[in-house]
Amino acid sequence: MKKWLFVLLLAVTATANAQDAKMKTFIDALMKKMTVDEKIGQLNLPGSGDIVTGQAQSSDIGKKIKEGKVGGLFNIKSVAKIREVQKVAVEESRLKIPMIFGMDVIHGYETVFPIPLGLSCTWDMKLVENSARIAAVEASADGINWTFSPMVDISRDPRWGRISEGNGEDPYLGSAIATAMVKGYQGNDLKANNTIMSCVKHYAMYGAAEAGRDYNTTDMTRQTMYNVYFPPFKAAADAGVGSFMASFNEVEGVPATGSKWLMTDVLRKQWGFKGFVVTDYTGINEMIDHGIGDLQTVSARALNAGIDMDMVGEGLLTTLKKSLAEGKTTVAQIDAACRRILEAKYKLGLFDDPYKYCDANRAKTEVFNAAHRKTARETAAQSFVLLKNEGNILPIKKTGTIALVGPLADNPENMPGTWAVAARFSEAITVLKGLKEVGGSNIKILHARGSNLDSDSLFEERAGMFGKSLRRDSRSAQAMIDEAVSIANQSDVVVVAAGESAEMSGESSSRSNLEIPKVQQDLIKALLKTGKPVVLVLFTGRPLALKWEQENVPTILNVWFGGSEAGYAIADVLFGDVNPSGKLTTTFPQNVGQVPLYYAHKNTGRPLEEGKWFSKFRSNYLDVSNDPVYPFGYGLSYTSFSYSDIKLSSTSLKGNQTLTASVTVTNTGKYDGKEVVQLYIRDVVGSVTRPVKELKGFQKVDVKAGESKTVTFNITPNDLKFYNYDLKHDWEAGEFQIMIGSNSRDVKMGKVNWSK
Ligand code: BGC
Repeated sequence: MKKWLFVLLLAVTATANAQDAKMKTFIDALMKKMTVDEKIGQLNLPGSGDIVTGQAQSSDIGKKIKEGKVGGLFNIKSVAKIREVQKVAVEESRLKIPMIFGMDVIHGYETVFPIPLGLSCTWDMKLVENSARIAAVEASADGINWTFSPMVDISRDPRWGRISEGNGEDPYLGSAIATAMVKGYQGNDLKANNTIMSCVKHYAMYGAAEAGRDYNTTDMTRQTMYNVYFPPFKAAADAGVGSFMASFNEVEGVPATGSKWLMTDVLRKQWGFKGFVVTDYTGINEMIDHGIGDLQTVSARALNAGIDMDMVGEGLLTTLKKSLAEGKTTVAQIDAACRRILEAKYKLGLFDDPYKYCDANRAKTEVFNAAHRKTARETAAQSFVLLKNEGNILPIKKTGTIALVGPLADNPENMPGTWAVAARFSEAITVLKGLKEVGGSNIKILHARGSNLDSDSLFEERAGMFGKSLRRDSRSAQAMIDEAVSIANQSDVVVVAAGESAEMSGESSSRSNLEIPKVQQDLIKALLKTGKPVVLVLFTGRPLALKWEQENVPTILNVWFGGSEAGYAIADVLFGDVNPSGKLTTTFPQNVGQVPLYYAHKNTGRPLEEGKWFSKFRSNYLDVSNDPVYPFGYGLSYTSFSYSDIKLSSTSLKGNQTLTASVTVTNTGKYDGKEVVQLYIRDVVGSVTRPVKELKGFQKVDVKAGESKTVTFNITPNDLKFYNYDLKHDWEAGEFQIMIGSNSRDVKMGKVNWSK
């Protein structure tokens, strides 16, 4: 190490140690003054009732704050309200301890960015980080200093509605995104008034709910936990995330909220996490239904496991004192939790100025401003994935007549997507508005709804939150189709905005059928019969089963839920002002029976022979091939890219050497474009079975029409490491396949031998 770097590191460490010592002195002094009740009070996190995301609510919050029985409050919106409750805490409670204010700022605040699954398809870590940065600026300007984000649950099951809130199926990409989000929210200095504390969730394995049914049991080997589900959480911990949220599900027969192995052994002892852990909404109380005891038992169990803060349920608040008297928990345990909460408040600077996030002027100028909305529009356009573009129907020219149809064409409330609790729903940009404004005066747009969301009102009733614009049209399905066909016949191109509504994914929105509702498919079929070019603008919060659409619809642009500016971004892409470059971060299956279907699967002892889709006594189905409709990493562009063969710096390596692998990517089409070049590695022989390939690197490059670029990856033994049977993180010597390509299926391959 260079001498100056060493000196700098020493200086940084010394400053950090001095700050920690100062914090410790402050908190020691404060805790000396605290009664046990006040310490337990710090562990309590009621919801405000402004935004309700679950069932139970605390009553008499004001009174409890005065009594020192509340550590923080969540989902309370506006500087004025937050200032008012903070005032009660710091002026009317005995010890005047400020509160923290949390919120589900998941993909933006009032300026809403694409849903996380969409954002992940940008494969652009700067964009991802910046979206979190803007969310933090807006939320902190409005009084919030803690967000329940990022959600980094790996999920390989599109039935699970919360797949929309995560970053897809891959631990490597998921880890990169976790790091970027934490950096975006927390910045370099948590004490600044425009950074907020991040809470990574839901720890852990929540995305592996059996049958994709939300909150359901999970059961897997520790190898899978360590190799697949843990990495994004560990990445967040390594990036300095301030807090963790426990998940609702059980892990190895113990609800995560009560799992000492998860909360203490892995999180604190193995990963060295120093922040605090909050439960999910009534997570402690739910352990009663999990069947491991009454409220007092499960509350003590949660605290002893390593939980510090209790969201909504008040199990800790109402039972810990009794447990202490009965020897079921200890003062040391309560102290440890209380200390971690106070440390978080200290790190946020709340003891210096409890109102530092309550600046009404900032709230006026820094929330939902033009600059943020512009970034949201650009980001949304990068999240869209072009799934098919037969005959280059896209981009559409800005002349002529467009028929815009479909139940999702003109619904502002639907654009932000799930978990956009602070959104200005009515101001979100619809497809209709976007096409009109971006298309300009030489475009004529005819609009008809064409169909309801579904043939009955199941989704409207159960998913809820649709707002006025998605209410059922009382006309018959045929009458609506007839109207759509009639405007299609008068047009040059038909754009159909169809798929899922926003609340068909997200929490408690699991589906057992992954197809577009039939009534919408009927509409598309009728439009295809007109012989006009049809563009499906697909809204969805999950991978859908699009076999029929892929076979029959010429053009499909997947736009997820793009946020406040979605309609503009959709128009930017449809008209070719932006060339799409998003790539899928989840596999799209042919049907629900193939689920879970993911690219990094194991080979099995009876793999299917290359090129076949069925063989007796091999691992396959009688009625469907093993292939997805769209593989992980897939996405088209208005231009085309060709890949050269892979070039390796060596085919025989030893120990800590570095291998360089490169390809030349050529833009062979007419448009400048961005391409996400992906590196996959297969460890051919292992002491345990290894996936057929694993993402180990990616680079998003700009390549002008006609231009070629060489993309190089440096690979070291670190990239070959995995958790083995004994959960030791190491690499094993042997043969490796090095693959580079434009998605997980279409790759160029080279082989190396790497010895120890
Ligand atoms: C969700 C969390 C969320 C919390 C607070 C829960 O129902 O699972 O993701 O942060 O509510 O709103």
